[in-house]
Amino acid sequence: MVGDKPMGEEHMIELSGLTKNYGSFVAVDNLNLNIRKGEIFGLLGPNGAGKSTTILMMLGLTEPTSGTVLVCGINSTTHPIDVKRKVGYLPEDVGFYDDMTAMENLLYTAALNGITRKEAREDALRLLERVGLSHVVDKKAGKFSRGMRQRLGLADVLIKKPEVIILDEPTSGIDPAGVQDFIRLVLELSHKDGLTVIFSSHILAQVQQVCDRVGLFNNGRLLAEIELSDLHKVPHGLDDIYNQYYGGKEV
Ligand SMILES: Nc1ncnc2c1ncn2[C@@H]1O[C@H](COP(=O)(O)OP(=O)(O)OP(=O)(O)O)[C@@H](O)[C@H]1O
Ligand SMILES: [Mg+2]
Repeated sequence: MVGDKPMGEEHMIELSGLTKNYGSFVAVDNLNLNIRKGEIFGLLGPNGAGKSTTILMMLGLTEPTSGTVLVCGINSTTHPIDVKRKVGYLPEDVGFYDDMTAMENLLYTAALNGITRKEAREDALRLLERVGLSHVVDKKAGKFSRGMRQRLGLADVLIKKPEVIILDEPTSGIDPAGVQDFIRLVLELSHKDGLTVIFSSHILAQVQQVCDRVGLFNNGRLLAEIELSDLHKVPHGLDDIYNQYYGGKEV
């Protein structure tokens, strides 16, 4: 149990010996990690730590150099389409059809995922209300602020009813009030809906607020897996975490 939330023992994501090289450069180095059903797992690390590369391998969008990724027991490298059905992915720079309305964008995503228009319309209305966008259902996405785009992005990943959602630096460029709105939604999706969430960020304060457990990344390596209770002891930025766990030395 973390807080009042039951945490399953079932692993939704299993990474074994996962490595990605670009030429002689090692972007992700022998990563071993299991993420449990229902937890909000943070990928925390500075620029270039390997967070996005790890996410792309989870999704089957980047092929590992070696090692394996299982998502809901499915191998992402060999069965990326099956994984895509299970996982909602919000990339750091989410793209919409800016000339289409919020509703049209969601209906388009639904159609790509084989959901009928009638079912999708009801779901889209419900989701837009949930993310606080019911007043702009028929507004073009191109007119949305960054915070509204990220909330539309959340609705967009939820329309196919995923079991896991992967959010890559989802709060970047949002004003502080918007960040809090977004975080509230993420917590609700975990606590009420039981979704498994991967939340990537370089901001310690955010993962402290959102995550049950955090993987600390640097230079392509997973330095530590930290429970929320330990994460709260860290007073300042990432340097403090590195110092606390490894005496400031790279490992
Ligand atoms: N397609 C690529 N070709 C060559 N190098 C890459 C490629 N993609 C990522 N890298 C390198 O791999 C390293 C890890 O990048 P990654 O995007 O995973 O980092 P990150 O933790 O997501 O940080 P940030 O989001 O700030 O970039 C970086 O040094 C990056 O330059
Ligand atoms: Mg990144």
